[in-house]
Amino acid sequence: MTTYQIAAIGGDGVGPDVVREARRVLDTVGARDGFEIEWLELTAGGVAIDLHGVALRPEDLEAARGCDAVLLGAVGGPKWDDPDAKVRPEQALFALRGGLELFANLRPVTVHPALLASSPVRRELLEGVDLLIVRELTSGVYFGRPSEQRETPEGRVAVDTVWYSEAEIRRSVVLAFELARERRRKVTSVDKANVMATSRLWRKIVEEVRADFPDVVVNHQLVDSCAMLLIRQPAEFDVLVTENMFGDILSDEAAVLAGSLGMLPSASLGDRRTEHGRFGLYEPIHGSAPTLAGRDVANPLGTILSAAMLLRWSLGREDGAAAVEAAVSAALADGVRTPDLMPPGGSTEGLRQVGTRGMADAVLEALESGARARNDAVAGGTR
Ligand code: IPM
Ligand code: MG
Repeated sequence: MTTYQIAAIGGDGVGPDVVREARRVLDTVGARDGFEIEWLELTAGGVAIDLHGVALRPEDLEAARGCDAVLLGAVGGPKWDDPDAKVRPEQALFALRGGLELFANLRPVTVHPALLASSPVRRELLEGVDLLIVRELTSGVYFGRPSEQRETPEGRVAVDTVWYSEAEIRRSVVLAFELARERRRKVTSVDKANVMATSRLWRKIVEEVRADFPDVVVNHQLVDSCAMLLIRQPAEFDVLVTENMFGDILSDEAAVLAGSLGMLPSASLGDRRTEHGRFGLYEPIHGSAPTLAGRDVANPLGTILSAAMLLRWSLGREDGAAAVEAAVSAALADGVRTPDLMPPGGSTEGLRQVGTRGMADAVLEALESGARARNDAVAGGTR
């Protein structure tokens, strides 16, 4: 039997709650499809600061590197929010993303038909929304140096640096074009080329790369107008590719389309391959939501859908990935809802509110009845 090694990093706040449920889903897929997962539990974020004084120990980064994939919850919380602190939980994310060379962050946004009423955006705008944000993840203002506060005769000043090399831009842009080829062949490159030098270089690289993809339609969009169009005509977008911070902001905005921040998964990928697929880190796009931690209320679907991406990209298990996605759809179509998915002020008829565990149970049930239906079909076919 194939055994995969996956690093599980619960992190802070609701992180451990949602990772626990996604692990159950992955173990169930394993039982169904005949593989096993050896889980390696690692500590990162605020909990690691409390235990070890750093957000991620170098040996834990190395241990993550040795696995087939990493499943992460969320990091951060008010306890570690002191603006003058030298160590911050978020450093764990940057150490993992940068340290593991995971340069592209894929954030797919779809609107489940059962959740049309959960979004504040008008239903007719949401129909047909199926977009993919490719966010550059290991450069830009997140990693630029200097980044610091200084004392000057004029008072305190602070500096952050936006930095991009052409190689950093190109690898994410190329991946975006490749992914567009498997979708609707449209790339929207998002920048602020009317203001920023890094954006003007970004635009040049996109123009160079497009020559190799004559079958893909390309649009350049300024980030401010893109933010507006994401709400006004979201169904027009296919693949959006953009730099680190613009991608961070636009993906939270796009989550409103999906009904809740709790719905969106992500995959961070680099070039490195293992014997099973592409090494990657998988996490929901939401944060640690400290006020919800440990209360069995957080929506686990963003993490469960991230686990589906893990199956697809890092383990080469497309079948299992599709089964998890279908099971999530089935649970939602059945009316199962965590609190964040209850329609704002709308009718709750036919809906059943559940907690974190209850939602994962509904997905597992759908997964198992899907497997039964499959076995029945196989048995029927051999009769
Ligand atoms: C995300 C988060 C992180 C980011 C934060 C927690 C540092 O917002 O993954 O989108 O900005 O990358
Ligand atoms: Mg974010």
